[in-house]
Amino acid sequence: MSLEETLNKIWQEAEKEFTSVKSLSELENLLIKYLGRKSYLANFPSLIKKLEIEEKRKIGSLYNELKRKIENLYRQKKEFLLETNIKFDFEHPGREIKVGKEHLISQTINKIFDIFIQLGFSVVDYAQIVDEKENFDYLNIPPHHPARDLWDTLWVKNRELLFRTHTSCFQVPVLKKYGVPIRAIIAGKVFRYEAIDKTHDFEFYQLDGISISENSNLGHLKYVVEKFFERFFKENLPVRFRPGYFPFVEPGLEIDIGCIFCKQRGCIICKKTGFIEVAGAGMVHDFVLKSAGIDYKKYQGYAFGFGVDRLIMLEHGIDDIRILHSSDLRFIRQF
Ligand code: DAH
Repeated sequence: MSLEETLNKIWQEAEKEFTSVKSLSELENLLIKYLGRKSYLANFPSLIKKLEIEEKRKIGSLYNELKRKIENLYRQKKEFLLETNIKFDFEHPGREIKVGKEHLISQTINKIFDIFIQLGFSVVDYAQIVDEKENFDYLNIPPHHPARDLWDTLWVKNRELLFRTHTSCFQVPVLKKYGVPIRAIIAGKVFRYEAIDKTHDFEFYQLDGISISENSNLGHLKYVVEKFFERFFKENLPVRFRPGYFPFVEPGLEIDIGCIFCKQRGCIICKKTGFIEVAGAGMVHDFVLKSAGIDYKKYQGYAFGFGVDRLIMLEHGIDDIRILHSSDLRFIRQF
């Protein structure tokens, strides 16, 4: 057999063997067999030494090509085996998949909505940037009215618009849009130009509800508010109604609930009074109904507004509103 025939034969065999090899260790052995120090090919240069120069060149280049082809076969096969020979460890615990969830504030707002839906209210939404009429004038708070000082306002566009200072700004727009009778609730962010401390932030959350019909009265308000707290805190807390002043209700009320921390024995949270103020409410002022174009001789009703952050802080015993609004994951992940 000539040297050329021998090289061809080696190639045919190598191709066959490399194709059928099944494991990385077998593959390494094959490489040693064909190109290792003791292989026929490793010794080949000494065999062609004595050949004529022409012949030497021809066989020499066939030899080099064969080596390259075998090396390629080896590399391709190795890649293939590495990819397909991955061993699965079915006992491995696997990596935890982190799934996001709603923030405590959103969770609470949804819970609040659920309770009010059960009580017959419809959930509505309204803009966060409104005009002066919606936030103040329609609600019986004309310019220069001292009550405007209750809401330190963040103005936009040269006082044409403002960041709503309370969710009560939805009252007249919602009455205009849906007419009466109506039972509607809104919850969302409000803004105040205010210094920040443990219990104040310049943006926070409120909810406002309104119910107007031919006979909505304070008794209904009392029932709705008491039921709400009972379902929200899942306990029967005493609810106290006190006279209060808000220009858009008459009579106006402040609503307190029994302190959930000391069960009314008196603590620093309730300042030893046993009660915590949580809401404002009252019978919707004729002025507001008039602003919405509603026949105030025929229709009447009540409205109420709660601080959502306040409820969350009470429910979870959080004493600093800043942590509630922070993006601190150590806090957020607890809920
Ligand atoms: N908007 C009031 C505030 O920000 C709270 C409030 C009081 C809302 C009485 C009402 C209400 O709907 O009837 O302090």
